[in-house]
Formats: sequence, structure tokens, C-alpha cells
Amino acid sequence: MTYDNIKNESYARADITPPGGNPFPHKHLLGIWGLDPAEIKYLLDCADHYADSNRQSGKNTKTLAGLTQINLFFENSTRTLMSFEIAGKRLGMDTISMSTSTSSIKKGETLLDTALTLNAMRPDVLVIRHGDSGAVELLSRKVDCAVINAGDGRHEHPTQALLDALTIRRRKGHLNGLTVAICGDVTHSRVARSNIWLLSAMGARVRLVAPPTLLPVNATSMGVEVYHDMTAGLAGADVVMMLRLQQERMSGAFLPSLREYYKFWGLTHEKLSVAKDDVLVMHPGPMNRGVEIASDVADDIDRSAIQEQVEMGVSVRMACLDILTRKQREEEVGP
Ligand code: CP
Repeated sequence: MTYDNIKNESYARADITPPGGNPFPHKHLLGIWGLDPAEIKYLLDCADHYADSNRQSGKNTKTLAGLTQINLFFENSTRTLMSFEIAGKRLGMDTISMSTSTSSIKKGETLLDTALTLNAMRPDVLVIRHGDSGAVELLSRKVDCAVINAGDGRHEHPTQALLDALTIRRRKGHLNGLTVAICGDVTHSRVARSNIWLLSAMGARVRLVAPPTLLPVNATSMGVEVYHDMTAGLAGADVVMMLRLQQERMSGAFLPSLREYYKFWGLTHEKLSVAKDDVLVMHPGPMNRGVEIASDVADDIDRSAIQEQVEMGVSVRMACLDILTRKQREEEVGP
């Protein structure tokens, strides 16, 4: 099979017309910042195809057979790690997740030496989560393969923003023109940053709704509207995206108490009543029930898309693995 066949099949699967040139010219996926809307749409269209095929019985393919994916997570994860493993396996990859707690990192091996060691084993894709902003970008400069950022510090979590966008687009039909309220602990949230860049690039109106202590100082320069009141911030919203209160990243007193936080900032049906009737409720997980969101809102099957977000995570990660390895497959197949 020639690369042209592979490429045309991919485009047919994604049901889009190939743009001129390379539709995704990046070697890595380190963040949403720097991607243009056509590139975001290309990733979402491909993921949309996988979302459909993942609901079929024959969802496992050999598209990426022979390629090796290593997941290197320095922070805990359920959704991102599991969905990257499943995504790689559904595409036929050899997928290995390295446990940092049983690795030589425990003997003092540095982050860089760990990455160089894994690189010497010639993986095709490294998926990395790290607690320091910029750590994944640094490693991407030291290894030969494609690198996907699975979350770095407070910086970015690009595949989360892509799966959020895919969930919204499949529910609402479009992103352009929607009003999306991102609420809660914005300061510590890489999910918020990636969503702000992606939703703004795709024409949505983004509101940040949070107490001043949980908003970054440069919030107003991010091209968003800022609200310090849930009623005003949620009024007329199409989508309400709640953020986890990230107490593990808080060094000082950002809020008086969890009970008070829930009273003013926790999403309840009452607070949600000012949003549009067909408002979509989202949360990247893991949730602090009774802190940033009431259980009956999180579990409301008419409004909550939280389980669908998890489902879309697999599809988005399949699309990322597929698209980032295309150039390599082209070189292997030859002209
Ligand atoms: N949303 C998210 O990144 O969840 P995990 O930490 O479980 O991967």
C-alpha cells in the first residue's frame, strides 16, 4: 500500500477534503497554543471518525501495527493514561506504560536520562505527563520520536481540550458562536488554558468564572470575559465547564473553606438555572463531588456530558497517534 492510499483512506475516514500541503505539519503535540483552526479541525474530524468506529464491534485495527508507544507519566492519571493505552492498542500499536514508582527514577535517574534511555529503545511515540510546566517541551527536543503532552504542570493539556471540543461539537453541531463558561480553579488548571486557546481559535466566546484568588493575574489578556459571580457568569451559557479544585497545587490560602467554596462556586441546579435550557455540563475529572459540582448535576443524564468526555478521550488520542505517525509511515512506505 502506498502512502497516498493511506492518506486518502484517512481523509475518507475523516470525511474532509485534504487541504493543500501537509494538513498537520507538527512533529509533536505539545499544546493547543500555536495550532491554527484548520489543524484543530483536522484533528477533531479524524477523532470524530474514530468516535463513530469505536461504537462498532470491529473497532480494533492494524493501522499502526509495528509502531511502539511508550506512556511516561510522572503524575497520577486514570483517564488520560488508560485512554492512551486503549487508543494505541485499538490502532494495533505495541503500547507500554512505564511505572515511575518502580523505575530507576526511584534510584535517582534524572528526567532527561530517563527520556534518553527510552529514546534509545526507538519508540515511535512518547506520551508524557509531568508536574512541571515546560518539562514535556524540553524532553521533545532531546528525543527522536513524536511526543504528546499528556499534561505539564499548569501549562497545557492539549488532548483534554480536544476531547472537550469533540464532545461539544458532537452535541451542539459546532463550536463557533457558543458561549462557554469555564468555572472554578483556573489558576492551577492546564485544562483551562488549553480550552481557552482551542475554543477561542474555533470562534467560541469564553468566560472565566472564578474568585479573584483562583484566576491568573493575566486572565483579561487571554481574550476572555472575566466574572466573579456565578449568576452573571452562567447567564445564557451554552456550555458550563467546571474545573477541579486542585488543592495539591495550592501552597497558600486560596479559599476560606471547602464548604464556603461550594456555597458560592459549586455548580448546583439552582445556579445552572440561568444558563440556556439545553446547557451542557462538563468536567474533565477527577471530580470533587460536593465541592465544585453537586452530584445530582454531575449525574444528570439530560445535561451532563462527563461520561461522554471520557469516551471521546479514546477517539481523540487515536487521532493524535494516527496523525503524528503519518509522516513516518510515509517514509517507510516510500513514494
Ligand atoms: N482529565 C484528566 O486528565 O484526568 P486524569 O488525571 O485521570 O488523567
